[in-house]
Amino acid sequence: MPIRMLILGTGGMANTHAQKYNSIDNVKLVAGVEQRPEVLETFCNEHNIEHRFSSLDEALAWDQFEAVSNVTPDAVHHETTMALLHAGKHVLCEKPLAANEAHAKQMAQLAFETGLVNMVNLTYREVPALQKAAAMVADGAIGKVRHFEASYLQSWLAQPAWGDWKTEPQWLWRLSRTHGSNGALGDVGIHILDFATFVAGSMPRDISCRLKTFNKAEDDQIGEYTLDANDSFVMHAELENGAVGTVSATRFASGHHNDLRLRLYGDQGGMEVLFEKNQSQLNVCLHDDLLIERWTQVTTNEVPSNYERFVTAIRTETQANPDFSKGAALQYWLDKALQNG
Ligand SMILES: NC(=O)c1ccc[n+]([C@@H]2O[C@H](COP(=O)([O-])OP(=O)(O)OC[C@H]3O[C@@H](n4cnc5c(N)ncnc54)[C@H](O)[C@@H]3O)[C@@H](O)[C@H]2O)c1
Repeated sequence: MPIRMLILGTGGMANTHAQKYNSIDNVKLVAGVEQRPEVLETFCNEHNIEHRFSSLDEALAWDQFEAVSNVTPDAVHHETTMALLHAGKHVLCEKPLAANEAHAKQMAQLAFETGLVNMVNLTYREVPALQKAAAMVADGAIGKVRHFEASYLQSWLAQPAWGDWKTEPQWLWRLSRTHGSNGALGDVGIHILDFATFVAGSMPRDISCRLKTFNKAEDDQIGEYTLDANDSFVMHAELENGAVGTVSATRFASGHHNDLRLRLYGDQGGMEVLFEKNQSQLNVCLHDDLLIERWTQVTTNEVPSNYERFVTAIRTETQANPDFSKGAALQYWLDKALQNG
C-alpha cells in the first residue's frame, strides 16, 4: 500500500516537498490544504494532487491519509501539528518547529506520547559535507573541538533574486513578530545553529546574542505587517564539549543568495564545511598538512533526503531524525537568544 501523504500549506516551500515525495516509490500525494484557493489549485494541478481542502478541519473529517508535511508559516505549526498528532497522523513539520519553546515542547511531548513518526525539516542535514564532517569529528579526526565560526548568508533584503520582499506575503510574514516570525534567528538561525552543533557533536551550554532589526519602511510598517523581526544576529556560544564560537546570520549578505559556512578547529586539525550556491564541499587540514597550511578537499557521498528518511521511518515503524525533541531543544536556545538580544 502506498503511503497517502497530505501537504498542509501550499506556498513556496511546499513545492520542494511535493517534488521530493513524487520521486519516492510508493508515496502518493493525495491532498493539499491551503487558505488561498488559487494557490491551492495551481499547486495541486502542478503536482497531480486530487483532493483539495480550504481548512485542516475539512481534511481531518475526510481522513483518507496517514502522513502530513506541515509547510505552513512558523506561527501556524503548533496548532496544526497538535491537531494532526491528536488525529493519529505522522508529521514532517517545517522548521522552526514552533514560534517558541513552550509550544515546541508541547509538540515534542505529544509526539512522544502518541508514538507517531515526527520529524523537523532541518534541510541542511541533507548536505553530504555536513554528514561526513560530523562523522569525522566523532571519529576524532580534528581532536578536541576548540573553536568554530558558523554563518548563514542570505541577501533577499538587499536584492530581488527571490522576488520583491516589499510586496510579497511570503517575505513580509518573515519580517514581522506579530505574524509569528522570529526573524533571521527563527528562520535560518535554527539551520545554522543545527549545522554547527551537529558537526561539533555537542549542543550549547551557554549563549549570548545580539539581534539587529534595520529600518526598512516608513514607520516600520507595510500594510498589515509591522517590520519588527530581526534581520541579522550574531551569537556567541559555548558548547557542552567546551568549544566556543560564533553563529551568525543575515538577510543583507549582498552577493550571497543562500550560503552556509562552518569553520571548525580542534587541537589536531581544522575543517571547513561549505554549502554555497547549492554545492556541498568539505575541506580539511590534518596531520602533516598542518605545518604547511595545506587544505585538501574530502570526497563525500550522497545522503538520503529528509523526505526519504521520513517515509522510511513510517514504513519501518522506527523514529525519524531529527525529531521534534531536537526541534524543541534548538528552540530553547532561540528563545534564550531572543530574551538576551
Ligand atoms: N527547510 C527549509 O529549508 C525551508 C525553506 C523555506 C521555508 N521553510 C519553512 O516552511 C514554512 C513555509 O514557508 P514558505 O516559504 O513556503 O511560506 P509561504 O508563505 O510561501 O507558504 C505558506 C502557505 O501556508 C498557507 N497557510 C497559512 N496558514 C494556513 C492554514 N492554517 N492552513 C492551510 N494553509 C495555511 C499560506 O496561505 C501560504 O500559502 C515556514 O515554516 C518556513 O520557515 C523551510
